[in-house]
Amino acid sequence: MTSAILLTGGTGTLGRLVAPRLLASGAALRILSRQPQPAGAAAGGVAGEGVEYVTGDLTTGEGAAAAVAGADVIVHCAGTSKGDDVKTRHLVDAAAAAGKAHFVYISVVGADRTPVVSGLDRAMFGYVAAKRASEEIVAGSGLPWTTLRATQFHELTLTTARAMARMPVLPAPSGFRIQPIAAVEVADRLAELALAEPAGLVAEMGGPRTYDMKDLLRGYLKATGRRRPVMPMRLPGKAAAAFRAGANLTPDHAVGQQTWEEFLAAGRRPPGAPQTRP
Ligand SMILES: NC(=O)c1ccc[n+]([C@@H]2O[C@H](COP(=O)([O-])OP(=O)(O)OC[C@H]3O[C@@H](n4cnc5c(N)ncnc54)[C@H](OP(=O)(O)O)[C@@H]3O)[C@@H](O)[C@H]2O)c1
Repeated sequence: MTSAILLTGGTGTLGRLVAPRLLASGAALRILSRQPQPAGAAAGGVAGEGVEYVTGDLTTGEGAAAAVAGADVIVHCAGTSKGDDVKTRHLVDAAAAAGKAHFVYISVVGADRTPVVSGLDRAMFGYVAAKRASEEIVAGSGLPWTTLRATQFHELTLTTARAMARMPVLPAPSGFRIQPIAAVEVADRLAELALAEPAGLVAEMGGPRTYDMKDLLRGYLKATGRRRPVMPMRLPGKAAAAFRAGANLTPDHAVGQQTWEEFLAAGRRPPGAPQTRP
């Protein structure tokens, strides 16, 4: 049976990769964005045939009801550093009012293991708390659901490293490690889950290797020919302590194939190949 799928965040890093995978299944795809998209706009590099764009804002809930109408599956990839719980609440409420769509959610490894209790924790780790709250909203929605937790994408790691490399001194949270994964591998799995039966909380996904933050930053500086000091900085609070203990890592699910080094090297390939310049 051909599905009607709503994809939120279809213009973002992950969603752009999920979109063509859903389209390849023959699904009719609707993409929600805050920005009006031109008719026939490409979805993740795939020509826009079979794609309908709708405009809405999940922070206010505007457009959510129209977006979910008629969808059999909702893949929720919209997210920002703040307020993901509010966005998820608006989408889930609209979906529950409309029917029984399979709700597929992308969360983050460590959402369940990072205590965000104080104001300080919230200031630094509010993102993780909002992902956990979103997971609970989805699980308690009454809708059939699937949630996948992934570690940080290489793309975000690169964005962060680039931004930090502009500073005269790079602060590195001491004791923090990350296990970055290629967003495309998460997209493969998320699309597979969206096209299958609801599965609840599925096995999490992490990248193939774990890196100490300061080593990763030093490696990035070296790879880009820059010389800057990296200064370890101990972050206070319970959430930071949980990260130092590895709450954001999933060594038993290091299923990602592409390493951070391979991801960076892919950016130096000749024109025509996918570019991820360091
Ligand atoms: N990046 C990571 O390392 C990582 C790791 C694990 C899980 N995740 C999760 O994966 C999801 C996607 O992450 P990403 O890195 O692909 O994000 P991204 O590149 O920053 O893209 C964010 C997307 O969210 C949409 N969006 C933001 N605010 C919205 C709003 N108020 N209403 C509707 N749409 C909104 C944006 O669409 P428009 O701008 O077109 O409106 C955009 O398509 C997020 O839920 C994130 O928490 C990310």
